[in-house]
Amino acid sequence: MGTSFKRAAVRATMGLAALLCAAWAGAASPAGAASPANGPKDERAALLAEGRKTASFCANCHGEAGLSHFPDVPNLAGQNPAYLLRQLDAFTTGRRKNAFMEGLVKMLSPQDRAGVVAYFASLPVEPSRSAPGPLAPQGGKAFARICAECHGPEALGGNEFPRLAGQQSEYLRINLKRYLHPTAERSYGPMTAAVMRLGEENIDAVVDYLSSLRVSADGRLEGAPAAAQQSAGQTR
Ligand code: HEC
Ligand code: HEC
Repeated sequence: MGTSFKRAAVRATMGLAALLCAAWAGAASPAGAASPANGPKDERAALLAEGRKTASFCANCHGEAGLSHFPDVPNLAGQNPAYLLRQLDAFTTGRRKNAFMEGLVKMLSPQDRAGVVAYFASLPVEPSRSAPGPLAPQGGKAFARICAECHGPEALGGNEFPRLAGQQSEYLRINLKRYLHPTAERSYGPMTAAVMRLGEENIDAVVDYLSSLRVSADGRLEGAPAAAQQSAGQTR
């Protein structure tokens, strides 16, 4: 990892510690105690507002709006909240390994996690590359055949299945290779089977396809290869 990445890590950790101290101080003061939540709507607004604060310590790497600054760091914007929470749990238990994220999650209370996940999940996603990569049409076909049954025809995922549409290309590539040859960083049996079916030589094509996908609010694929458009139409 580059030096800018390491600097971002140090800034984020120090910033989060300061935020947590401020939160404790705030809870003890009358101003901090006065946050009236008068119903589910207010509660959600309060959760999102808290999440937004916590998210400022993720911004150095994952971006202010959940759109990553580094090709090997995932976008969090628009990601399924249940999936994000599971991954934070995985970093806590060591089922998923990343030295920085494992340290960071220990500093987040369950409330912090719920807030930050709700906040990122509520943000819109921009494709990580503006034009489809050269192998996108081929990748779209393979995706429809092997991956869509779990990740959805528009690659939006759902519940424990991550959204892949618009994700950072290098991050997708690294993780597909990790699943293919499971490592301590990441392993998941059904994904190993899926990438084996795909074949290592087709990883780049699927990445070209997924990283450029733009999905509208009503779940329509925009500018996707014809093959995937058709298969999405059939299953909806
Ligand atoms: C110093 C950079 C850095 C900061 C700051 C950072 N992260 Fe991360 N995060 C990463 C990296 C790198 C990964 C990918 C790890 C891997 O390859 O498995 C990651 C992965 C994740 C994932 C898994 C996403 C997925 O698609 O599977 C979640 C969730 C996450 N981070 C949440 C957060 C939250 C919440 C914060 C702020 C409280 C935060 N991160 C701050 C670098 C960072
Ligand atoms: C049987 C269901 C299933 C199939 C089929 C499947 N996946 Fe997955 N995929 C999952 C689940 C569940 C996860 C989360 C696993 C974890 O916790 O690491 C995942 C994770 C991923 C991730 C990591 C996402 C992130 O944000 O870190 C990528 C990339 C991915 N899948 C791509 C694919 C591709 C490409 C295919 C087709 C070749 C595919 N998947 C087929 C269920 C599936």
